[in-house]
Amino acid sequence: MNLGTTYLGIPLPHPLIVGSSPLTDDVDNVRELEDEGAAALVLRSLYEEDITGEQLAAFFSAESHSDSFAEASSYAPDPESSLGPEEYLEHVRRVKAAVGIPVMASLNCVTSGGWTLYAQMLEQAGADALELNLYHAASDPTTSGAEVEREMIDIVSEVKGRLRIPLAVKLTPFFTAFAHFANRVDADGADGLVLFMRLHRVDIDVLELEVIRSLALSDSSQLQLPLRGTAALAGRVKASLAVSGGVHTGLDVIKATMVGAHATQLVSTLLMNGASRFASSAGRWRRG
Ligand SMILES: Cc1cc2nc3c(=O)[nH]c(=O)nc-3n(C[C@H](O)[C@H](O)[C@H](O)COP(=O)(O)O)c2cc1C
Repeated sequence: MNLGTTYLGIPLPHPLIVGSSPLTDDVDNVRELEDEGAAALVLRSLYEEDITGEQLAAFFSAESHSDSFAEASSYAPDPESSLGPEEYLEHVRRVKAAVGIPVMASLNCVTSGGWTLYAQMLEQAGADALELNLYHAASDPTTSGAEVEREMIDIVSEVKGRLRIPLAVKLTPFFTAFAHFANRVDADGADGLVLFMRLHRVDIDVLELEVIRSLALSDSSQLQLPLRGTAALAGRVKASLAVSGGVHTGLDVIKATMVGAHATQLVSTLLMNGASRFASSAGRWRRG
């Protein structure tokens, strides 16, 4: 049976790809994921907050770029584990050298600004595609939904205009008119839409007086929302569609494909079961 698919214009032997996460932090793990059958992989995100104006100035020797860097407002990366921009570029190069499957870099962004020049650096480092992890907390009561969406569209245009490699945009489901917004992102040139980004859980440690942020692992019940979002867009957008969230079994992949997904991204099931999850559920789908 031919399970080949095309995602972001890139032909893949089957639709199972490794989603953005620390799974791809280690080059040996990356090789194992490829050996076990992953069709492609997305690296964990580099966060906008980590790309400071100074670093940009160093990269581009151009003060005008650093002037336009805007301060991010939330969704801070974990300072203990996130990579700096130079380390991230080096990681892209190392992963590209280690595997033959497509490697997609990921940028988490909140504001438009000079930092988007960094997208080009990721392309030059060898990324086959870029996934933009687009998030806006929308917590300012003086900013309207239309303004927030305008800003997000500006980011997509800015990044898209700098790239020759395909651009995927990972969205949250939190829009009043999600399908309308996704259509605008599509019209603005995104080559793919990833549905959906999962936000960190936020809790409060009342004894330590601390905010606790965590990313809980999913189960198949969380596939419902991505399925609905994908079904709403399938056949209505030019961009290819990837489901992210709650893909744990072969049946989940079939459901995602049935509603129109070109690719399915796996994270939690790989973190829980290891890379062999590909071999057990998708081993038959390997190349060759
Ligand atoms: C530990 C962990 C780290 C993650 N880091 C990122 C990240 O850096 N960028 C991103 O876009 N998504 C990140 N995600 C979200 C995943 O890419 C994915 O969208 C989410 O986990 C839902 O897929 P799943 O149900 O297969 O886990 C992370 C998820 C986990 C569990």
